[in-house]
Amino acid sequence: METNKTFTMIKPDAVANGHIGAILDQIIKGGFKITAMKYTKLSQETAGKFYEVHKERPFYGELVDFMSSGTIVAAILEKDNAVEDFRKLIGATDPAKAEKGTIRNLFAQSIGANAIHGSDSDENAKIEGSFFFSGLEKF
Ligand code: TYD
Repeated sequence: METNKTFTMIKPDAVANGHIGAILDQIIKGGFKITAMKYTKLSQETAGKFYEVHKERPFYGELVDFMSSGTIVAAILEKDNAVEDFRKLIGATDPAKAEKGTIRNLFAQSIGANAIHGSDSDENAKIEGSFFFSGLEKF
């Protein structure tokens, strides 16, 4: 993935609470183009693999349980400066600290059930996008 792309997931809490449409609206209004998207569910095993970088952190078990607890929407997004701009659009990890109007401020429940994922580097955007999408889907 080039530097103008990032990867996102709308997490199980936001899907279960009916926020898919409102979140996609924020993403599109934020200037991002959706270049690939799927509605899917992670198993414990695939969620564990996706978040392997956090394996040693105390919240890893809870994170894996939560991310495999319901359906998610995974997508690849395109925009200049995508990774940084998308992190701004979603806000801080903890919704209590997320700036007003950000996706986590509007839709997140807690630091764990925080509505949305956004890659934190170009390198991770590429790895995470490839975790969910084949070359054929990533036009
Ligand atoms: P992290 O990469 O630190 O945050 P971000 O998603 O903003 O890049 O953490 C990954 C996910 O792990 C985070 O979105 C929610 C969960 N998490 C917790 O459940 N508890 C915590 O204390 C932290 C820091 C994260």
